[in-house]
Amino acid sequence: MKTIETINLYKKFGEKEILKNINFSSENGEIIAITGKSGIGKTTFLKCLAGLEKIDSGAIKTSGSIGYIFQNFNLFPHLVVKQNIEIPALNAKIYDKRTISEISEKLIKQFKLECVQNCYPANLSGGQKQRAAIARALILNPEIILFDEPTSSLDPELVKELTEIIKKLAKQNYTILIVTHDIEFAKQTADRILVLEDCKMLGLLT
Ligand SMILES: Nc1ncnc2c1ncn2[C@@H]1O[C@H](COP(=O)(O)OP(=O)(O)OP(=O)(O)O)[C@@H](O)[C@H]1O
Ligand SMILES: [Mg+2]
Repeated sequence: MKTIETINLYKKFGEKEILKNINFSSENGEIIAITGKSGIGKTTFLKCLAGLEKIDSGAIKTSGSIGYIFQNFNLFPHLVVKQNIEIPALNAKIYDKRTISEISEKLIKQFKLECVQNCYPANLSGGQKQRAAIARALILNPEIILFDEPTSSLDPELVKELTEIIKKLAKQNYTILIVTHDIEFAKQTADRILVLEDCKMLGLLT
């Protein structure tokens, strides 16, 4: 089943065309990497999918809600890890506080954050921040997870660990989109690689 479908997605900033009639689709359990030059519009594409940027024309269909892991993780500095993970669910008010706490405890275990669950983001390593950001993105039970440059602050050991985490998530049937400059990481992790070039999305032969 298609999880994301864009139909002639068109986006510009002022007079500058960024995305020109993009027809993209993804399936459950698929890992797709998107690469391309700096400033070409990769982050803009993810933001359009997540509804964080308005599109000028065309349409976006998604099968379920979307989790977004920002390039710098955007953890709240004044909240500890457990609170960071719980905050989207508390704001959405879809579960009661006890249920939210139970779900966050499971995520904390799943992403090996037990020993830092009461720490502030400033006191976490890059890998811990990233795992906290992933756990936070999962608390609202999305079908689709978007990663923007997830390896940019990770050393090679953590990049390997991230590949494993992402592959496990895809096995659980999440659709995963990864924007990355890191072609080696994309090849190790993704089922297919797309390149954004001249406002178009092209398939990359690997
Ligand atoms: N809110 C905005 N208003 C105006 N222009 C913007 C806005 N956001 C992004 N842009 C411009 O749109 C273009 C695409 O930006 P985007 O951040 O999507 O690029 P990118 O491919 O993610 O680059 P990078 O690899 O450096 O992260 C750039 O020229 C950028 O300056
Ligand atoms: Mg970007």
